[in-house]
Amino acid sequence: MAYVCTNCGHKRGGKLSICPSCMQANTFVKEEKQSKTTAKSKKQDAPVLGGLHARLMRLNAISMQDEHRIQSAYGELDRVLGGGIVPGSVVLIGGNPGMGKSTLLGAIAGHYANHNGNVLYASAEESVTQIKGRTDRLGVNSENFWLVFETNIERILDEHMTESNADFLIIDSINTIFSTDSASSSGSPSQISICAEKLRNYAKSNNVTIFVISHVTKEGEIAGPSNLQHQVDTVLYLEGDQHNMFRILRSQKNRFGTGGEVGVFSMQSDGLHEVANPSEAFLAERLNDSPGSSVCITVEGNRSIGVEIQCLTINTDNYNPSRRSNGFDKNRLFQLAAVCDKFVQGVNLSDIDILVNVVGGLNVFEPAADMSLLLALISSFSNKPVPTDIVAIGEVGLTGEIRNVPQLELRLREAANLGFSRVIIAPQNQKLKVPKGIKLIEKKTVDEAIGFIYN
Ligand code: TYD
Ligand code: MG
Repeated sequence: MAYVCTNCGHKRGGKLSICPSCMQANTFVKEEKQSKTTAKSKKQDAPVLGGLHARLMRLNAISMQDEHRIQSAYGELDRVLGGGIVPGSVVLIGGNPGMGKSTLLGAIAGHYANHNGNVLYASAEESVTQIKGRTDRLGVNSENFWLVFETNIERILDEHMTESNADFLIIDSINTIFSTDSASSSGSPSQISICAEKLRNYAKSNNVTIFVISHVTKEGEIAGPSNLQHQVDTVLYLEGDQHNMFRILRSQKNRFGTGGEVGVFSMQSDGLHEVANPSEAFLAERLNDSPGSSVCITVEGNRSIGVEIQCLTINTDNYNPSRRSNGFDKNRLFQLAAVCDKFVQGVNLSDIDILVNVVGGLNVFEPAADMSLLLALISSFSNKPVPTDIVAIGEVGLTGEIRNVPQLELRLREAANLGFSRVIIAPQNQKLKVPKGIKLIEKKTVDEAIGFIYN
């Protein structure tokens, strides 16, 4: 028997004294009782998006403390989500095949089933025995964990959600389910759009949290119509190098927190584990005295992370020498190679192939990484390791100048934590808080910086 809140329309399997959606007391009635109401009052009582009744409120009457968050299995995920899962939110998670999307959501579902309530894992990709095989690996088992192999979204929402009485739904994946409202095949833009709309409406009017897995295109973007990302509250990407154990969870959009936040995990034989100190993990295997390696201190969201940038330069007879990179923007690599060629004395890269790799699977696309790449490049070209106590932080301009970057103090603290003592930066016209043990070396141009390091 379902009960429904007469104030906001929130549905539950049992009667509650306080509605978890609108926080009103004694508003639950048996569902059929409410169906006796007239069509007119039904229309007035219809829930609007957000599960909240459309009534006027004074700004100062709204308390932020009312925003309730559910802790997931991982502190890293909670941080990326802005402090935990928001009930009734729709989260889209994309990533290449084999990244661990189903593994991550299997663990989240298991934790929710153990601590919060019923969860339905609806898979249109794998059979229930395949999912069971995975959850066994993860050590997940609970009465509240419901599984179904289903491709029809109407059956998922109208039948399986009611039967399981779940308030947490996982869809694996949006590209393989379909709605009977459209004749096109699953995975087509119109199917994805209709299914996303239905999921969003269901989540908002029933206060059900929904995590939706999505495939990505060859370019690594969420596959589907362009409005898909607008239909959900949060968009996450699970990234990484398939041959490496590290996985990066990145929020691209988040209505309930900061976008651009990252969480770091490692894939082990029993699922994903959080990496408490990413810099330490990413730099663990670095050879300090090897030419072509430098440390880059990058900022992702509110957090600084040290990663190793490796560069290998090789003589070539090719008329067009190649520039290849993994984890670093290729256009920026072209630009930096051209700047080195023109502005750093004694460097000629016109007959040199360049290979770049950011170790650990993190994609470093911010200009603040320019100087680190430049150091790795010159180090490989000149076959001299970068001195172990030096790190460089700065953007490089097209005239060979070093430019300032945002959040420099945060980066300096990370440099100190990682044991560096000299930091090359652009000239400063403001006073910086410099961590103990750090000496700042201000240089105007890349040529001056390289001259300082190697002469
Ligand atoms: P999966 O979650 O199926 O990826 P996705 O849903 O993103 O396609 O994970 C696939 C990979 O993860 C697969 O290569 C096996 C590996 N894996 C582990 O290493 N440990 C584990 O505990 C699990 C469940 C998977
Ligand atoms: Mg999967």
